Amino acid sequence: MRKIIAILTIVLLVVVVYSCKKSTSVQDLKTVSLVLPPTPANYYPSTFDSSMNKTATLGRVLFYDSHLSVNNAISCGSCHKQALGFGDNSAFSTGYQGLPTKRNSLPISDLSLAGSLFWDGREDRLANLSLRPISNHVEMGISDFDALCTKLAALPYYTQLFHDAYGDNQITSDRISGALGVFMQAITTGNSRFDQYNAGNKSVLTAQEIEGMNLFNTKYNCGTCHNGGGGYYGNGSFKDIGLDNSYSDLGRGEVTGIAADNGSFRIPNLRNVALTAPYMHDGRYKTLGD
Ligand code: HEC
Ligand code: HEC
Repeated sequence: MRKIIAILTIVLLVVVVYSCKKSTSVQDLKTVSLVLPPTPANYYPSTFDSSMNKTATLGRVLFYDSHLSVNNAISCGSCHKQALGFGDNSAFSTGYQGLPTKRNSLPISDLSLAGSLFWDGREDRLANLSLRPISNHVEMGISDFDALCTKLAALPYYTQLFHDAYGDNQITSDRISGALGVFMQAITTGNSRFDQYNAGNKSVLTAQEIEGMNLFNTKYNCGTCHNGGGGYYGNGSFKDIGLDNSYSDLGRGEVTGIAADNGSFRIPNLRNVALTAPYMHDGRYKTLGD
């Protein structure tokens, strides 16, 4: 009996090890369905011409395609959810193997006003940034971009999309990151009630909201930091706002190597903030009240 159990255990182990190996192979073209949000956001900005619209359309499909992760488990949209201001509602998102990310997912919007990108500003070009989550070992786990291009080329819907965006159907990592970048540039805010109020429609904000705005700008000086683009966008600089005495995450200091930058994080964009809980680089606060 013990012998049988031992043999069964070994067989089981072999099966488990084999299937793990199999599921992380980039060549494994398991067909997963592509699910785009039913209501597209208000694409595309008026500054886009028709060729940028086509590139953004390709970028949007790539953004929601879990074939971009090594085991086809998650897409960019898994951690950047349109309904949540393109952020995530857990402090740390889970990557392709179910492991947690190091920081709270940043909501994607108004990236051209963000200054440098990520909580610690470690990247300053959107086109470079897009390949980072794809290759990140927690997020999407792709180490071989040629294999990724081959994998995408086998999916019928990309032939036309790449052709429309780039004039031929060749798939390269530069084109993937370029299209994702153009799509993300298309995600902008700018017609909130706050914008309408600034444009002269004074009746759209309640008395309480106006009081909050005044406290934000005067008494509490929040606007000295949260002032990007004249409308509470990120402003591209980094501050340590005193959340911790000792740092488990050095933030900006990890990038610059300067001790004075330890514990500093990028001043975040406050647009859509009601949708992007939990808050701060580590999602420590669950509500805006906190
Ligand atoms: C497993 C979750 C996860 C996945 C998948 C993921 N991201 Fe992210 N993303 C994050 C987290 C967490 C951050 C913040 C990281 C940091 O700042 O250190 C982030 C940050 C970003 C930022 C920076 C935004 C800013 O304001 O600086 C962009 C842009 C971005 N991701 C785009 C993408 C794209 C494009 C993909 C798909 C190719 C993707 N992400 C996939 C979790 C994820
Ligand atoms: C000295 C600059 C500075 C001032 C002043 C300031 N903030 Fe911030 N704020 C930051 C930084 C930096 C962060 C990110 C901190 C982190 O994650 O470690 C932040 C984070 C936030 C967040 C969380 C956003 C998110 O997406 O996670 C909110 C909300 C916020 N601030 C509101 C306010 C309000 C309201 C005031 C005024 C009472 C204020 N801030 C004053 C720099 C500032």
